[in-house]
Amino acid sequence: RINSIAARQIFDSRGLPTLTVRLETTGGAIAEASVPSGASTGAHEAVELRDGDPKRFGGKGVDKAIANVNGPIANALAGMSLEDQAAIDRRLIDLDGTSNKGKLGANAILGVSMAAARAAAMTVSQPLYRHLGGAGAVRLPVPCMNVLNGGKHADNNVDFQEFMIAPVGAPSFAEAMRYGAETYQALKALLHDRGLSTAVGDEGGFAPDLGSNEEACAVIVEAIERAGYRAGEDIAIALDPAASSFAVEGGYRLAGEGDGVTSAKALLAIYEDWVKRYPIVSIEDGFGEDDWAGFIAQTEAQGGRIQIVGDDNFVTNPTIIKRGIAEKVANAALIKLNQIGTVTETVEAIRLCFEAGWGAMVSHRSGETTDDFIADFTVAMGTGQLKSGAPCRGERLAKYNRLMAIEAELGDRAQYSSPFKRPPHR
Ligand code: PGA
Ligand code: ZN
Repeated sequence: RINSIAARQIFDSRGLPTLTVRLETTGGAIAEASVPSGASTGAHEAVELRDGDPKRFGGKGVDKAIANVNGPIANALAGMSLEDQAAIDRRLIDLDGTSNKGKLGANAILGVSMAAARAAAMTVSQPLYRHLGGAGAVRLPVPCMNVLNGGKHADNNVDFQEFMIAPVGAPSFAEAMRYGAETYQALKALLHDRGLSTAVGDEGGFAPDLGSNEEACAVIVEAIERAGYRAGEDIAIALDPAASSFAVEGGYRLAGEGDGVTSAKALLAIYEDWVKRYPIVSIEDGFGEDDWAGFIAQTEAQGGRIQIVGDDNFVTNPTIIKRGIAEKVANAALIKLNQIGTVTETVEAIRLCFEAGWGAMVSHRSGETTDDFIADFTVAMGTGQLKSGAPCRGERLAKYNRLMAIEAELGDRAQYSSPFKRPPHR
């Protein structure tokens, strides 16, 4: 049972305040969980409660969220059984009473929800992935490593936010990490040789100024080959343009493509051209969050060959994902716990994806902590795919290193296989 719950402020990977929750059980076990924060957020995400006091952290303080945990939430949950995560999350949702967790804050609620899941696992002496996923939780994800950062995650001239490498042909998760880390180092050497910056962005990927968005794909393919791998067979590419961040009236404004307004149709033509020439297996947020027509057109055109992922448009919200499935808006959803605010609702979002035959990619946020909850969560859900940035920066590696530990613990029972279709390029 829950004995006590307390939150306090810590800092995220951008040096901005966030909160960590400490939950103590009546048996004396202590579970902690920390909450991440996005930069290119969807408009319909659950509310991340910030203080708004300009004199403290430029308004980004989280004292109110912390007070909500320490006061009303701690009071409401004291004595509750940890066995029923859904009941705990239901209590949190009811206590908040709004549709977007705007009263208590999704950051306050999620910290408690994750800490409760951890405490429950500790109570039954099981690792979190097994407690949440059962004995069948043996599938490690393909790590989609964001090795080149642009958009809102970097100060360079690249419009598209994320260029990820996905070691689809690796025989295990540990080997996938080696493929990715070696390619990351090869990319660094290659950029250095060309006099380009090797400073990194928010998610640990390099953030050089490039001649065009496409050049990012080209240098990544070169790096894959320089590291001794086959582009496509061993390592594929996944993109998150995060198009909401360059959506404008009537289309999209790409500084890297001449800076005029690009229509949704022309943007789809760019993706189609790239998919023919680069080993791309997944495109996330290729269109803006309000441009469902753009998504639908892309899914119609490319959904049979590659994964089309909705992030900013679906915001891990089961109600919106249901609509997305009905309207064939994509064939996968990005999954971020803090977009919706409880473990139970996140599980529901993934369940809906699976029922529809959709993919589900579990994701970190650009503002992260060293909390590795999503590593266990991904294995528990068996999604087969996760993104946690480049193999660089401790808060990114915390998740990957935890997954290596899980794989080692599972031993022969661990499974690693790509959820993606073979890249249709060339
Ligand atoms: P965010 O970016 O965490 O800044 O929202 C991640 C993403 O867009 O997938
Ligand atoms: Zn995204």
